Amino acid sequence: MMLLIRGGVLIDPETNSAGSADILIEDGKVKALGSGLSAQNAEVIEAEGLTVAPGLFDVHCHLREPGFEYKEDIKSGLSAAAKGGFTSVACMPNTRPVADNEKTLLYITEQARKASGVNVFPIAAITEGSLGLRLTDMEKLSSLGAAAFSDDGRPVPDASVMRRAMLRAKETDALIISHCEDAALSGKGVMNEGILSKKLGYKGVPGSSEEIIVAREAVLALETGARVHIAHVSTKTSVEIVRFAKAQGARLTCETCPHYFSLTEDSIEAKGALAKVNPPLRTEKDIEAVIGGLKDGTIDVIATDHAPHSKEEKLNLITAPSGFSGFETALSISLTYLNGRLTVQEIISKLTINPAMTLRRDKGIIREGKEADIVIFDPEAVWEVDGDQFLSKGKNTPYNGVTLKGKVVYTIAKGNVIYKG
Ligand code: DOR
Repeated sequence: MMLLIRGGVLIDPETNSAGSADILIEDGKVKALGSGLSAQNAEVIEAEGLTVAPGLFDVHCHLREPGFEYKEDIKSGLSAAAKGGFTSVACMPNTRPVADNEKTLLYITEQARKASGVNVFPIAAITEGSLGLRLTDMEKLSSLGAAAFSDDGRPVPDASVMRRAMLRAKETDALIISHCEDAALSGKGVMNEGILSKKLGYKGVPGSSEEIIVAREAVLALETGARVHIAHVSTKTSVEIVRFAKAQGARLTCETCPHYFSLTEDSIEAKGALAKVNPPLRTEKDIEAVIGGLKDGTIDVIATDHAPHSKEEKLNLITAPSGFSGFETALSISLTYLNGRLTVQEIISKLTINPAMTLRRDKGIIREGKEADIVIFDPEAVWEVDGDQFLSKGKNTPYNGVTLKGKVVYTIAKGNVIYKG
């Protein structure tokens, strides 16, 4: 089967360039790249006026299966991913049971294979049951396809356990992804701690809850030489610590999420539980620092932290679980809110080649001979977010009613159109 994508502006994140190019795809792979390509019997996508980029790669999402299928299952999650332009996703292990064992890891891989063309890279737990005590068998789980190790959703509380995890990861060349949070400092907080939390009378989560553990991981990464990726950075001080540690030579990478450069804590007042997320939405000062970190390369990756929950669960700010669906808005939020600050090529790099390199997967670029994973979007399309239209089972989003610019038109994985807008 042949597919010809004709006349689009192709973004190449590897060379940081953009220019008009056609792409010819045969049997799932890129056969040719260039101008004026033609092929008899090829299905043609006319991409005039559209932007063509490598399929997006998310290093941080929650597909919820096994165990929480009422929030999301692998099939619904991957449909939402495809609609958002993602052709590769790495899913966190906070399932039930936790993905700390062979059986669960293989179950996720098998369900993903059956579900759609989106590549799924499961992340396994650092500790058994993500309880923060006994390390999992990293070598074995890596050999079964674990792309990295994380106790996401729950921090590893004990520094000596994290240190041992990093030493083991160094030995086996595995990647540790750290959800940086000091549970004692977070306490029962439901939003950012500050003037607004005091005014509203809600318990707050201080920035230091995140920053203390970012600093701990930076020091341990320097000491052990392990590859460490800091998840969902949300504060100015966290960005500064990562910048410092990288300058010292730590093998550190770091991600933020669209909500940490587009929304402040004010959303809690306006949207209540829909805006509850962990770490919490912060302040303008933090947004500026996050965008500065994206611009200067301190923050390598934009990840979704797609965290679907049921509608009923997200009604009450105090009791609601943290997080909201992110696949179907991530690209558009990035294009809209980073417009004028980062180039489109820079934005696309953070959503494609950088995450692929972080997980050491051969993805995130369009090259002759490689699998054809591609997103095509209309950079001028303006649309209004309506969570009820999401393909994800999680219809919750604090962006309801927000107007975004840029919309996915086609997602192509291994040469097959898996989403058409
Ligand atoms: O808001 C969040 N939700 N942050 C996390 O770290 C975990 C996630 C979840 O699993 O719902």
